[in-house]
Amino acid sequence: MSAVELFEDFFFIQRDFLTGNHFVCRGPEPALIDTGFIADTERTLDLIRDLGADPARVGRIVNTHTHYDHCGANRVIQDRSGCEILLSVTGKHFMDTRDDWAMWWRYHEAPDGYFHCARGIEDGETVRIGRYEFEARCTPGHAGDLLVLYNRKHRLLISSDTLWENDMAMINVRVEGSRALFCQLESLDRLAGLDAALVCPGHGRPFTDAGAAIDRARTRVRRFLAHPEKLGADTVKKILVYSLLTRGPIEAEAFEAECLASNWFRETVDLYFDGRYESMYRRTLEGLAGRGLIQRDGTRIYSALMTS
Ligand SMILES: [Fe+2]
Repeated sequence: MSAVELFEDFFFIQRDFLTGNHFVCRGPEPALIDTGFIADTERTLDLIRDLGADPARVGRIVNTHTHYDHCGANRVIQDRSGCEILLSVTGKHFMDTRDDWAMWWRYHEAPDGYFHCARGIEDGETVRIGRYEFEARCTPGHAGDLLVLYNRKHRLLISSDTLWENDMAMINVRVEGSRALFCQLESLDRLAGLDAALVCPGHGRPFTDAGAAIDRARTRVRRFLAHPEKLGADTVKKILVYSLLTRGPIEAEAFEAECLASNWFRETVDLYFDGRYESMYRRTLEGLAGRGLIQRDGTRIYSALMTS
């Protein structure tokens, strides 16, 4: 974890996977962008306090989307502060209708973290975060309700899960629909039209070369369009790592049984690999272990990402 003051009283907090990065604008009524993973709520509150912002005095939270690794501490902060929470218009609809499928909570068996959304943000709207203004751009693809935030004065792009430096956020067509990859390409085009000097992504470190990252992401999307089985393999790999991150060290046999029985695994393997559950599980696990991303400790396995 590291916090960086990007401009006066406006901080970027980089978190370890699986928790999404988030932002704090310090002031008498602090404002937040995203609030991390639900299981990391206490740590998130400590980090906000460490910057001199009182979670009980938060005036506004803006969420980039409703995935549970980005809005996890919302309800606790709203209960304590009574703050207003803003989502995209689509995100507000998901929240108001308790659509836990669209928000991926049901799919990933995430705990319920419903909160009250005061208002939906329109595409192109200017949104105030503390004393700073950001332009909102709707960028569906990874999530139907995703919005990025751009501060034109500082040329800062808060790209959330629409643009990462190297890897790309998971595209789950079971939830997002068969057009999701095309939506992602259109969203990348929208980001290319901005003149960002610094990009702070939803996961990973900040970076400066937005154009190169967009090109890498476009290449990846086109590869997935040409070879759907590669998207399937990427999806299985990502959810396997994320599941392991949420579990912590676990008996290998128990984890395998859990995965093979889960909604996400069976659906993905049905969609791309004709129901070859056991062989896909073993192949993916071996691939991840070979790259050092999954480690063994006796009969238990854990994600190497959790140690950083
Ligand atoms: Fe996400």
